[in-house]
Amino acid sequence: MKIIKKDVIPSTNEFIKEQYESLDNYTVVTAKYQTSGRGRTTRIWESNDSDNILMSLLIKEFKERTDLNLLSLVASMSVHKFLSKYINNLYIKWPNDILVDNKKICGILLEGKMNNNSKMIVIGIGININQTTFNEDINHLTTSLKKELNKDFDINLLTLELSEILVNDIEEFLNGSNIFLDYIKSKLYGINKQIEYTRNNVLCEGTILDIHTDGRLIVKESDQILYINSGEIKIKR
Ligand code: BTN
Repeated sequence: MKIIKKDVIPSTNEFIKEQYESLDNYTVVTAKYQTSGRGRTTRIWESNDSDNILMSLLIKEFKERTDLNLLSLVASMSVHKFLSKYINNLYIKWPNDILVDNKKICGILLEGKMNNNSKMIVIGIGININQTTFNEDINHLTTSLKKELNKDFDINLLTLELSEILVNDIEEFLNGSNIFLDYIKSKLYGINKQIEYTRNNVLCEGTILDIHTDGRLIVKESDQILYINSGEIKIKR
């Protein structure tokens, strides 16, 4: 694993997507500040300069199990494990937000390029570490290690620690381990509870039952069982 540290770039995910041909498998790119940090769907990812973990990992050696949806769950497990060394009450909101109680501390964005001559997946991770105030509209829904624990952390050290856990977990997964399914299920936000979510923009209620081996969320809605792909529902917090 090689770590490339940048000060200011548009986005660590974009950097890898542009440069992956000349980078090695498992290269990590970090930034102190992103000028166009991106979240899932059309969201932006805002982070103060030097306060937080902003990193992306490149995967370009594909094996049989190299799958975006499953890797996204493996990455959630890794971040959960890593943060659990410092803090309790952490949950994984399927597919890959990490919450402290019900406040978001981490977002993960996987992107892939798959064409005839080249394949790559980038796993982008933003974790709030030393930032204590966020944009007005999300402040009450967002937290950080410092907000929870009232002390500062060394971003470089934490990034290295997380990268090692992540690469290790991915290797185990690619070699056939299914441990991530049980792990995620045991920390899953809203499991076995009646939850509200929007499905295709309609407000619905149902119970989260399980995660399928292909990564889909299994939900019971009235008397039907639904197998949901990421992006189809938005769980309300
Ligand atoms: C989300 O919750 O919507 C996903 C947020 C992902 C943010 C990270 S920060 C590092 C990497 N670079 C980006 O532009 N986005 C991801």
